Amino acid sequence: MTMANDAAAKTLQDVLAERFGERLTVDPDLPGLAELAAIAAHRSHRRYLARPVPPDLVRLLCACALSAPSKSDLQQSDIVMVADVAVRKTIAAAIPDMPWIEAAPAFLVFVANGRRLPLIAEMRNKPFPNDHLDLFFNAVADSAIVLATFLRAAAAIGLGCCPISAIRDHAAMVGKLLHLPERTVPVAGLCVGWPVEPGHITPRLGLGTTVHQDRYEVGDLAGEIDAYDKRRAALRPYARQRNPERWGTATSYGWSEDKARQYAEPLRADFGTFVRAQGFRLD
Ligand SMILES: Cc1cc2nc3c(=O)[nH]c(=O)nc-3n(C[C@H](O)[C@H](O)[C@H](O)COP(=O)(O)O)c2cc1C
Repeated sequence: MTMANDAAAKTLQDVLAERFGERLTVDPDLPGLAELAAIAAHRSHRRYLARPVPPDLVRLLCACALSAPSKSDLQQSDIVMVADVAVRKTIAAAIPDMPWIEAAPAFLVFVANGRRLPLIAEMRNKPFPNDHLDLFFNAVADSAIVLATFLRAAAAIGLGCCPISAIRDHAAMVGKLLHLPERTVPVAGLCVGWPVEPGHITPRLGLGTTVHQDRYEVGDLAGEIDAYDKRRAALRPYARQRNPERWGTATSYGWSEDKARQYAEPLRADFGTFVRAQGFRLD
């Protein structure tokens, strides 16, 4: 055991304590503690330096991201690097409350691709009796894994990112702008840049709520959420309350109040129509 290992173990414990409100046991003799600490210290970045992110570097990160595992080796995930300024501006203009979309030095769109597989069936003159929900689900899962891997690769070289699911509020427009063919859907955009500031850790639900032993434990969800709201508010209180015109100003405003307010509005109710119009069958 070296002093460096002890320090890495302590860093990891500190970061996870801030995230989960729990001090986990970390064996300082474990290899790879620095990588674990980097994973645990994840944060989204929405403010970037003017320093460019060269396209070759983005392409390198895409290659690392697409090295992620893929369900049945089906490789149902694509990435669109959006360099066209007019296209980016159109997307950004549709989402004015997220100015980081236009400001980010690089912008990508992660795409779930259910197109290649049925086309390959056609090319190889085979039937394709799998045109149902699973095709969509597998493609979205692959794309999400590639997105997460891109985040890790980018963070490893000091880049900061922010995924943008808000592009799905304008899925048809984004699909048209990017010429997305049949049976493909945009899963999320991604802003990429050199962060202006280190950013901060966002606390997550306690591990007692989200990690289960042998069987799913429903537990005391109300009590656990309450405790999480308090722990999170002490570390990272919300700067403003969502939609006070409709819900008033709460004396104690936690994560659960914010998420309940967020989802009290209909969101993306037309997304299913878009996905079906793209040719996916969801039954
Ligand atoms: C699939 C996905 C979509 C997201 N979409 C948006 C978005 O549209 N706009 C945004 O500002 N942040 C977006 N985020 C970032 C989340 O808000 C962020 O991950 C969350 O608040 C937790 O913060 P952290 O990533 O710093 O831990 C998205 C994250 C994910 C994983």
